[in-house]
Amino acid sequence: MKIPTTVAYLLCTLSLANAASPDRTEKILARTLAVIPSSSPTLDPTWRQNRTRQAKHIHDFFKLFGWLRRNDTIRDPDMPRAIRKIQRVLREPETGVYDERMETVMSRPQCATVQPYNESDAIVDNSTMHKRYVLWGPKWDRTALTYRFVNYTADLSQDRQRAIISAAFDKWMAFLPLTITQASTSTPRADIHIRFISLGAAETGYAYTNMIADGLTMSSGLINVTFNDDYNWADDRLFNFTAVHEIGHALGLSHSKVESAIMWPYYDGIIRPMHPDDTAAIHTLYGWKDPRWNRIDTNSGTKDIIQVSTPLENTASALDGLYQLRSSGQVLSYTPSSNAWKVVDSNKDTAQIAGAGGNIYQRHTDGSVYRYSGTGSNWQYIGAPSDNVVDIVAASDQIYVRRKDGWVARWSGNGLIWTTIEKARNSKQIAVTDQKTIWNLLTNGDLVRSTWPYGSGWTIVDVNPLNTQIVTGGTEFYKLQSDGLVVWLESVKYYWVVIDDEGDVVSVFAVGIYIYARRADGSIWRYTGTPHVWEQLDDRETSASVVGDRKGAVWEMLGGGDVFKLVS
Ligand SMILES: *[C@@H]1O[C@H](CO)[C@@H](O)[C@H](O)[C@H]1NC(C)=O
Ligand SMILES: *[C@@H]1O[C@H](CO)[C@@H](O)[C@H](O)[C@H]1NC(C)=O
Ligand SMILES: *[C@@H]1O[C@H](CO)[C@@H](O)[C@H](O)[C@H]1NC(C)=O
Ligand SMILES: *[C@@H]1O[C@H](CO)[C@@H](O)[C@H](O)[C@H]1NC(C)=O
Ligand SMILES: *[C@@H]1O[C@H](CO)[C@@H](O)[C@H](O)[C@H]1NC(C)=O
Ligand SMILES: *[C@@H]1O[C@H](CO)[C@@H](O)[C@H](O)[C@H]1NC(C)=O
Ligand SMILES: *[C@@H]1O[C@H](CO)[C@@H](O)[C@H](O)[C@H]1NC(C)=O
Ligand SMILES: [Zn+2]
Repeated sequence: MKIPTTVAYLLCTLSLANAASPDRTEKILARTLAVIPSSSPTLDPTWRQNRTRQAKHIHDFFKLFGWLRRNDTIRDPDMPRAIRKIQRVLREPETGVYDERMETVMSRPQCATVQPYNESDAIVDNSTMHKRYVLWGPKWDRTALTYRFVNYTADLSQDRQRAIISAAFDKWMAFLPLTITQASTSTPRADIHIRFISLGAAETGYAYTNMIADGLTMSSGLINVTFNDDYNWADDRLFNFTAVHEIGHALGLSHSKVESAIMWPYYDGIIRPMHPDDTAAIHTLYGWKDPRWNRIDTNSGTKDIIQVSTPLENTASALDGLYQLRSSGQVLSYTPSSNAWKVVDSNKDTAQIAGAGGNIYQRHTDGSVYRYSGTGSNWQYIGAPSDNVVDIVAASDQIYVRRKDGWVARWSGNGLIWTTIEKARNSKQIAVTDQKTIWNLLTNGDLVRSTWPYGSGWTIVDVNPLNTQIVTGGTEFYKLQSDGLVVWLESVKYYWVVIDDEGDVVSVFAVGIYIYARRADGSIWRYTGTPHVWEQLDDRETSASVVGDRKGAVWEMLGGGDVFKLVS
């Protein structure tokens, strides 16, 4: 039996090394000397390659953010400091040692648009870093722009290429007071040129955008978006992502340090909606569409609006969308294409609506609960009347109730049977994430949570009498404190991060990656992903609530019952 022998030998070696005998050093030395070969050892051949690749990654990263002049190199003694700087952007422990996560991120296909060198951001400065979007400097000084294809790749049909590029421009135009159209094919010149050039197999960048600009305005015809034709553009995802990213450059944005922003320079295979960091950047440059909000309803009976939104990675549900509850108990759903409201239910007893996972739920004033799954016209009766039931919360494929006696229960999926979750009375509010983790804020400010399938009851995660409101957005968790602080839970390394400390936030709403705050003056703000950086969406004093979907669309209800949609 060979294997056990080897193990025994290793154990033996270890215990020898650990033994506290006075001649231990000599023994180890003797052993070590004995294993030094007589000729110079051959290095693991991957070592040098790895070192070279790591150094390239680090240099690339620095150039993508304008921290290094094009031809400069980072000296070896500066490497740990350079690595720490990257780790700060990646929200990693600053060890100064090139690690697996850096390798993973920086091996991805990357944009080759090198940012202009910015001395104050260079390696010598290791002080605070502005972790958000960066503007290139110049911008377009006109509102009507054109683009044209200099040439096409052979990877997919020209029609398809035109469709993808046009859709990428549309993505930005949805937020901008600009009109960008394809120039007629006979025109030799347009503001922005699209081209495919083979940059060589060794080039790791998938695309780049360069420009000749006077520093203030972009110059027509001198902005080129170049796709590396050595990448396979038949890959729809890569093409869509790259097109939106490069067009961001062509409109005047540099690389963002927010990892899930479109303007983050590495591609991870995920097509995300426009990030609030990107929209804040583009609004800073070009302002908003005018008007910024469209009224979609005005009715003094509007009592509440909710948005039902399936996670983007799941198949969208037919019941996704905007709903309103009127004080008459009527429930209406909004159809954006026809700008019309349709009555879904007209029961005078409806007190609350909620929805998730392809279902809509309503709670009646008598505490009974009903479910509508989109088939047929009947609401299924799932919860018996009880004056104990004060709140319903829908998340994932579940529906939960919070009861006056402080208990929390979930519907078993069967008849009128509900299952209580162990031992936490005095619940003040519950919120549930996509993974079905229930967060439960108790009346004394304690925060407890229970993870699916809730077999081990509640765990205390925070004790703070200032805790006043909790919200979940997708997989994220936030809380609002009575001192006005908005606090986010970093759920990988598990610590609290204050994301707003102005002290005037009165309520928060979160959906997917987005979180919105309503301040004491009625204004509505959207978090950009960087602590303390919020973008103001509205300054109306009468804002009563805000909801949104997971793609970034936003609706607002005013105190008088008007409902508005953000169009910019
Ligand atoms: C070099 O990198 C490869 C792949 O990342 C890894 O498997 C190998 O262990 C590394 N070699 C050394 C000496 O670090
Ligand atoms: C960088 O190096 C290349 C070739 O080594 C040279 O042509 C170019 O002028 C240099 N650029 C700068 C900004 O020094
Ligand atoms: C250079 O970086 C600093 C600090 O991040 C920033 O404030 C400044 O606007 C940047 N300058 C340019 C020209 O991008
Ligand atoms: C940068 O970091 C190094 C090492 O941590 C430190 O010695 C140096 O003072 C720092 N420089 C600045 C400008 O903060
Ligand atoms: C596109 O045009 C550029 C010149 O602007 C040329 O270098 C490149 O080879 C052309 N690409 C294709 C795919 O024809
Ligand atoms: C943009 O592309 C055109 C056509 O390929 C080329 O003539 C021009 O030099 C390029 N300009 C820049 C700034 O790269
Ligand atoms: C890429 O964009 C095109 C054009 O909008 C669209 O038809 C296609 O579904 C998108 N592909 C992916 C993977 O998002
Ligand atoms: Zn880029």
